[in-house]
Amino acid sequence: MQKPDGLPAEIDLSRPSAARVYDYFLGGAHNFEIDRQLAEQIAAMTPNLPATMRAGREFLRRAMRTLLDDGIDQFLDIGSGIPTVGNVHEVAQAANPKARVVYVDIDPVAVAHSRELLADNALTGVIHADLRDPERILSEARALELLDFDRPLGILLAGVVHFVPDVDRPGDILATLRAAAAPGSYLVISHSTFEDQPQEMLDAQRLSARTATEITLRSRVEITGFFGDWTIVEPGVVHMELWRPDSPSETTADGPRFGAFGGVARNDQTVG
Ligand SMILES: C[S@@+](CC[C@H](N)C(=O)[O-])C[C@H]1O[C@@H](n2cnc3c(N)ncnc32)[C@H](O)[C@@H]1O
Repeated sequence: MQKPDGLPAEIDLSRPSAARVYDYFLGGAHNFEIDRQLAEQIAAMTPNLPATMRAGREFLRRAMRTLLDDGIDQFLDIGSGIPTVGNVHEVAQAANPKARVVYVDIDPVAVAHSRELLADNALTGVIHADLRDPERILSEARALELLDFDRPLGILLAGVVHFVPDVDRPGDILATLRAAAAPGSYLVISHSTFEDQPQEMLDAQRLSARTATEITLRSRVEITGFFGDWTIVEPGVVHMELWRPDSPSETTADGPRFGAFGGVARNDQTVG
């Protein structure tokens, strides 16, 4: 495939990218024909998948409001994706103009667009890194000198941990990130699940193997484990549309509509 002008050299246009497929589902413009083809295929099998992705953004926005209400003013957003309307820094800085956000993504397109969009925003930074190398993420985040790891921060892992297979030990990765966060910090996770899922959702997982990274669906118990010994806030790890919905009308009487759990936990350890 012909590479459009101005794209970073490392961008692989021979395979769909998860970030660009996701961007397409959210109505963004940063995707290519190969991404759109896969997105259409996935959407045909799972008609509610685009809605699931939008519900994921909504969960993240509501979760952030909880953190902001508790005074969190710095965020490490890993697997941040391609900037779309209602980005983490927009939500954070609308509530607190001094809020700082460091975005991290493995996808060069997501990183290039984030850098372009945030060039004039001195309180944000962008790191091109892999969640599977949390030490590198932490050292690069420290080098940016935007986040103060001695103060509470919000670690956001929205729709990304399911890209880490069990063989890469996601539990250890989460433990490394939690260990770097001061008391009072929060962890936000949304994660695809096989629980309560129809067959077509499981088929979509098989299709997603064609993007650069495959999805691992996990149980509520496994996802809850990623919060370690931090205190999970109400209502717990639940289907993400049931997590503090803005209005009861957003939830359905006939069970969950989307195949992902969401949860928020706080580090209640005291320094000692
Ligand atoms: C479904 S999108 C979620 C975007 C955003 N967090 C949100 O909730 O709207 C998943 C993002 O995770 C990124 N990603 C996948 N595997 C990753 C990894 N190992 N390390 C860092 N980012 C990763 C993808 O490039 C993509 O941008």
